[in-house]
Amino acid sequence: MKVKLAPSILSADFVRLGEQVREAIAAGAEYIHVDVMDGHFVPNLTIGPLVVAALHPIVREMGATLDVHLMIEKPEQLIPAFAKAGAGIITVHVETCAHLHRTVQQIKELGVRAGVTLNPATPLATLEEILPYVDLVLVMSVNPGFGGQSYIPTSTARIARLREMLDARGLTQVELEVDGGVNADNVATLVAAGVTVLVAGSAVFNARASVAANIAALRAGIAHAAR
Ligand code: DX5
Ligand code: ZN
Repeated sequence: MKVKLAPSILSADFVRLGEQVREAIAAGAEYIHVDVMDGHFVPNLTIGPLVVAALHPIVREMGATLDVHLMIEKPEQLIPAFAKAGAGIITVHVETCAHLHRTVQQIKELGVRAGVTLNPATPLATLEEILPYVDLVLVMSVNPGFGGQSYIPTSTARIARLREMLDARGLTQVELEVDGGVNADNVATLVAAGVTVLVAGSAVFNARASVAANIAALRAGIAHAAR
């Protein structure tokens, strides 16, 4: 499976959001990662279905996928709106779903790929029963809420354990995504541990270099892992 890049628009320049998303996809990003925060489950408030709907024509036209990460309580209430807005993948937190299997089914019945994720201190065992039903699992490598935080080093061992859990069940088509503190220096390690989708916010959208140069640096890091 080719490793995919999912730039997180949380660190983008919102005044030029469409342009920044075009730049990222033109530079080879397969997914556009959208961080939805409600000020309750996480201590920050970001964007809703309106922004996803506004980006959808650009993302669809350029052949990419909107990867929507819901950091919100009662996600089942807003999942239909995000599906309608054009989400290609919707990922929910196990901590917010009392009926996780039902929520995953809800996402799939809307024709959207379903992902599950968990906070850094939530045991991987909470994923065990849902793995056969999902298209993607996301390992949070920072505490969700903000971009630009440092990668939590113990996440690498979690990724490797989750890779073993997936492989042991023959679930090799399930994407394994990592989110938080990803940069050109650690992508090789993450890919070697078994990641197939890398979310990167501040490593893609920053004042140091262009989006294209930052994406090229991440790809160079990934190529380093493959050799
Ligand atoms: C954190 C978000 C991340 C964040 C990643 O709550 O889920 O997607 O934007 O940002 P960086 O790559 O800067 O850590
Ligand atoms: Zn995210």
